[in-house]
Amino acid sequence: MPRYTSYPLTNHFQNDFGQRHQVDWLRAVPQDRDISVYVHIPFCKRLCWFCACRTQGTRTLRPVDAYVAILLKEIETIRRTLPPGIRMARLHLGGGTPTILPCGTMSALLNALFTAFERSADFEFSVEIDPTEAPDDLLQLLIDAGMNRASVGVQDFARPVQQAIGRSQSLSQTRHVIDLMRSQGVASLNLDLLYGLPHQTSLSFGQTLRHVARMRPDRLAIYGYAHVPWMSKRQIMIKAADLPDNETRFALAEQARAAFLAEGYDSIGIDHFALPSDSLSRAAVTGRLRRNFQGYTDDQGETLIGLGASAISRFPGGYMQNATATSAYQDRVTSSGLAAHKGYGMTAQDQLIARIIEDLMCRFVYDEAALRDSFPEQAALIRQTGISLMTRFTDVFYISEAGLKMRIDTRPLVRVIASHVDAFASEATAHSAAI
Ligand SMILES: C[S@@+](CC[C@H](N)C(=O)[O-])C[C@H]1O[C@@H](n2cnc3c(N)ncnc32)[C@H](O)[C@@H]1O
Ligand code: SF4
Repeated sequence: MPRYTSYPLTNHFQNDFGQRHQVDWLRAVPQDRDISVYVHIPFCKRLCWFCACRTQGTRTLRPVDAYVAILLKEIETIRRTLPPGIRMARLHLGGGTPTILPCGTMSALLNALFTAFERSADFEFSVEIDPTEAPDDLLQLLIDAGMNRASVGVQDFARPVQQAIGRSQSLSQTRHVIDLMRSQGVASLNLDLLYGLPHQTSLSFGQTLRHVARMRPDRLAIYGYAHVPWMSKRQIMIKAADLPDNETRFALAEQARAAFLAEGYDSIGIDHFALPSDSLSRAAVTGRLRRNFQGYTDDQGETLIGLGASAISRFPGGYMQNATATSAYQDRVTSSGLAAHKGYGMTAQDQLIARIIEDLMCRFVYDEAALRDSFPEQAALIRQTGISLMTRFTDVFYISEAGLKMRIDTRPLVRVIASHVDAFASEATAHSAAI
């Protein structure tokens, strides 16, 4: 089932769309606007068997340095193409393993970014951190450069699980990285955990949850392990027979939920938890929770520029994705300075469906009145979709002041419901095109 971090899903992106529209869309960003920037570093020293992220193993730094040299060129071309006066409100370094960059290379990258884009007054800078590949001097450099958020990969601390997923990571390594960042004032720390991994039991997972609770992260992402060896070849190292069955998977997810609710965390969307003091919780309370390619966020920006191989950019008119293979990305930037390949231009109906799915994923509501206010020309489709949800999912929704609301115990079904809305909208489009 798709995670719906975007609508339409990336498999609907069209070849060459990005290439044709990238310059126009960059030039059309309004001068006074804040943007968000995502930089993808697709390298890891180790390749964990469970991982479905776009990344490649490397033992030497040569390909990493060559890649960053190309990134600098892409940043410069984007800077020249964007109108002047654009401010960067958010910067996220993701991967792969961004902390694989040696200090000198990381400095060069950050200098290029900070020179190209003036930082807004409330600038937020976050980095994905693998604790086994995060030297102290590099962490210090990131903190000195303004990193105020970090997302730390944990997955599970149990040895048999770590052995079965090809990722060895000790409790003390993880604590060291967290303590260092905390002591230097990094304001918000997120930890990633996975349930549904091979050999995970309620007993061992309970131990991991206790270790994590003692670290008191501000946020937690607890994802269900997606076993997709046909897409992520390294997962063939994981035996399907060692995976917990659906019932156990569900029980592990519930165990994590109960543990963190008991620890005072708020449940955010389908797979995040946050302390009430964290901006993600505050966004959820004030109805400002959003969903983007990094999952749940309080980022309200309408323009996200993705840099690096496979990075996705979002503009008011739709999406575009850089060439996915590192070599193809490098070739494109070398020849034209830019690298967009696939993309998608959103129709008015796509904008409506994207909003419906985001409302469901973030707030578990289908608010017909609010949708009609924002999309008055789509009133008929809004009505039909509401009727279809009520008739297809009778036991899931109830009528509240905010429109149709999902009952709390049915919330794990939200991706099924999003996928129903997606299919219903495609059918409605096909039907109206046929008559
Ligand atoms: C892009 S990875 C980067 C993590 C970082 N390099 C590290 O090792 O800590 C971010 C997160 O994606 C999640 N992830 C990776 N593969 C996954 C899979 N097959 N199913 C579900 N989540 C996955 C993991 O929780 C991981 O921490
Ligand atoms: S989990 Fe992190 S370190 Fe492991 S392969 Fe994925 S991106 Fe690389």
